[in-house]
Amino acid sequence: MATDKLTIKSHQALKGTTRVPGDKSISHRAILFGALAKGITQVRYWLAAGDTEATLASTRQLGVNIERHDEHTLTIHGGELHAPTQPLNFVNAGTGIRLAAGILAGQAFESVLDGTEQLRRRPMKRIIEPLRLMGANIEGADDKAPLTVRPAKLKGIRYPMSVASAQVKSAVLLAGLFAEGVTEVVQPGPARDHTERMLSAMGVKIETEGEVIRLTPPSHLNPMNVNVPSDFSSAAFLMVAGCIVPDSEIVIEGVNLNETRTGLLDVLLEMGADITVSERSMEAGEEVGTLTIRTSQLKGVTVGGETVVRMIDEFPVFMLACLMAEGETIVRDAKELRVKETDRIAVMATELRKMGAIIEEREDGFKIAGKQTLKGAVVHGNDDHRVAMSMSIAGLIAEGETIVIDIKCASDSFPRFPETLQALGADVVLEALS
Ligand code: S3P
Repeated sequence: MATDKLTIKSHQALKGTTRVPGDKSISHRAILFGALAKGITQVRYWLAAGDTEATLASTRQLGVNIERHDEHTLTIHGGELHAPTQPLNFVNAGTGIRLAAGILAGQAFESVLDGTEQLRRRPMKRIIEPLRLMGANIEGADDKAPLTVRPAKLKGIRYPMSVASAQVKSAVLLAGLFAEGVTEVVQPGPARDHTERMLSAMGVKIETEGEVIRLTPPSHLNPMNVNVPSDFSSAAFLMVAGCIVPDSEIVIEGVNLNETRTGLLDVLLEMGADITVSERSMEAGEEVGTLTIRTSQLKGVTVGGETVVRMIDEFPVFMLACLMAEGETIVRDAKELRVKETDRIAVMATELRKMGAIIEEREDGFKIAGKQTLKGAVVHGNDDHRVAMSMSIAGLIAEGETIVIDIKCASDSFPRFPETLQALGADVVLEALS
């Protein structure tokens, strides 16, 4: 099978000013929520990446007219969903399938939601269970995709979530839009709140009291204009690279700094990172800012509890900060990492060991004692965008040359990732293998 590889030579200082692509979480929601709004939603700086393109294509299959003016600029003519004639293919996108399941549970037609083998392995019971409590008719063999959703009358519930997941919270709230009565979710910790912010901007009554979120079903959703800010989770790769690659200074502009997302920034600062935030402003109801990162002497830290949820997508690249920090870093309460695109604890430990890293895997996290030296090696992206990108950053600090096989999956969330590194001065070469 044809695949791609990225060859990385180490010890090139990273310097310059850059922007990273649009926020993936907000881009999925802009499409799905825009489809529900009565009228026209304009979206600018939309993330045109593997995951979000799958949500866009699926939404079109639901009969929604989405005009594309260029890759990142969309006009969504929302208001009515129609029965799809084919199963909806969410490819690798967990956010796409779980949020769409919440919406489709409340529709008067049947739909089938599916994706790649990777998506079919991911747990869906976490959304099936609450949606059924609301009255949804949803099933999947072994509680996995493909999921079949049939018409049903929904009622609002109070749902205490057992995992701190924004996808579960969102699926329940979105079903709540179509339910009779009020829907409440009680989250165990502060998972990202883009759904609450965006629905509220569309006129939906959403009240948040501590960790309880209460949604009152609206008569309709108002359309909105969304200028998607840059994704903190994509900036994270450059933030860690800027800290650990010698003699670096990187400026990343317009990054979403929603505090439910910026756990990595807090932890890196605690580790002694030289990162400053400037140019703070508001975009699409979210705080954005410019990050300036300089090479830093990091020290080990302990991470657990609510911080884990606020940096859940950043642990693969965080492992590199841990390897380059003086002393011990312990991560706990992060069992969710095992059910992401891959088991990110096991997969990252396996790939980094190929470069000589010593990592103690734990059921709910890991322990790393730094500072360690990495050696260039041939490593694999494992069809997990965040693993592929993290291993590329590992290559920047390893001795000798590193080859990341299957780098192409980086474009599930960060198109032109290799080009972004090149523009900052990294010696990386992208090649197609056959
Ligand atoms: C997301 C929620 C998180 C995150 C994912 C995006 C979202 O997943 O890992 O990349 O946009 O709601 P969980 O809800 O499974 O934690």
